[in-house]
Amino acid sequence: MAKFKVAVIVGSNRRESANKKLAQALAKLGAAKADFSFAQIDDLPIYNQDHETDLAKPVVRFKAELAAADAVLFVTPEHNRSIPAVLKNAIDWGGRPWGQNSWPGKVAAVTGASIGALGTAVAQNHLKSILLSQGMQVAGGEAYLTFKDGLIDAAGTITDESTRKFLQGFVDQFLALVSRPAAAQAA
Ligand code: FNR
Repeated sequence: MAKFKVAVIVGSNRRESANKKLAQALAKLGAAKADFSFAQIDDLPIYNQDHETDLAKPVVRFKAELAAADAVLFVTPEHNRSIPAVLKNAIDWGGRPWGQNSWPGKVAAVTGASIGALGTAVAQNHLKSILLSQGMQVAGGEAYLTFKDGLIDAAGTITDESTRKFLQGFVDQFLALVSRPAAAQAA
């Protein structure tokens, strides 16, 4: 059976992003069950409704990446107690033009890491509410990570065993929802 396709969206455009490292580690934990591909969002133009009639190439590419995915894994930092602008911009483009929303029906999982103790809890809460508004099916399970140097090694392995086990459970719960037929999900 073909593996599920998961688009990974990282809410940080920083080269050494902790969230990118976390996303790579999560993709590794789920690799046996799904193919993970990272969607680029840092080259999307700032959303402007005037540009919907002639979509920029990065927007067309991004929406094609979403169309090919069964599910989306969001891994994001928290900026000023909400989601970063680069991520909100991507979500806005994904939802437009009117009638061509790329999000509905896809399963979403949300997690993130920050250097603060709240571990992106506020941003994740905002993000889940936005994704529900777009018709996504948001997977249960919560994972708020406080990022510390060395938590993820160069090979993308989570070095702390209890954190690795916890995140394996998070990924498994997400992918179990993706694998359930739509009819069963609706029941
Ligand atoms: C932050 N950071 C932050 N952290 C947090 O826990 N809550 C917050 O509201 C904010 N706000 C915030 C705003 C801005 C503009 C920046 C640049 C940073 C700190 C943030 O968690 C930290 O920079 C992370 O390392 C960012 O994640 P990446 O880019 O490493 O993935």
